[in-house]
Amino acid sequence: MDKERRLIIAGNWKMNKTVAEGLDLVNGIKRELTNVKEVDIVVCPPFTALCEVSKAVLNSNIRLGAQNMSENGYGAHTGEIAAGMLKEFSVRYVILKHTERRQYQKESDALIAKKALAAHGAALKPIVCVGETLAEREGGLTEKVLDTQVRGSLAGLSKDQIAETVVAYEPVWAIGTGKTATAGQAQEAHAFIRRLIGKLFDESVARRVRIQYGGSVKPSNARELMGLPDVDGALVGGASLEDRSFADIVRNSI
Ligand code: PGA
Repeated sequence: MDKERRLIIAGNWKMNKTVAEGLDLVNGIKRELTNVKEVDIVVCPPFTALCEVSKAVLNSNIRLGAQNMSENGYGAHTGEIAAGMLKEFSVRYVILKHTERRQYQKESDALIAKKALAAHGAALKPIVCVGETLAEREGGLTEKVLDTQVRGSLAGLSKDQIAETVVAYEPVWAIGTGKTATAGQAQEAHAFIRRLIGKLFDESVARRVRIQYGGSVKPSNARELMGLPDVDGALVGGASLEDRSFADIVRNSI
């Protein structure tokens, strides 16, 4: 598949996998995907498994991501993890504003903008998630919601930082539900986000920024979704918890 931007496929393990289970999974992924060079492959284990998984992926084609981080540096923030601590484990990416954190931890766009700045400050690439609920889609509000979320959560980033940010379009109604956006819905939302970034920053940044699709991505729908002109990868939840299905998503995307 010949695309303008390099595909990035990331597995978000969420609150799953002990250290031993995480090692089994990542070693399986490594075996399955040893020769893949065409795609950026990222795994995002829980914090507790980062240390061991980072050793397992050393000198491989698999990069490490975290699932969250603090907007603050080191200091008195009980229970939080600073960007610098993630860097210790050679983490390159960090998921921010995942729907589940927006929903359950009530994270706001303003907070995410601070986290994204802190991530870039530590040379971590944020994966910033945006997406509408079913009620919003049915109410014809998808573009309005995406507009607000993109503006709010990328506020204050420089053009260069935007180009190094990954945006993940994750329609809330498609996450963990088995329902996937149709190719038309996904392409429309991705193109809208890219046009908006073009307006807010500039066209060359918009052409460079990678926009992943997330929401019930599986081996059977990866090829169609990844083939869409404005879809530059996938953020995979459930199907990333098993080596064969994650590897098949990557292989089917090439
Ligand atoms: P899912 O999750 O693939 O299980 O739908 C996607 C996500 O939450 O990032």
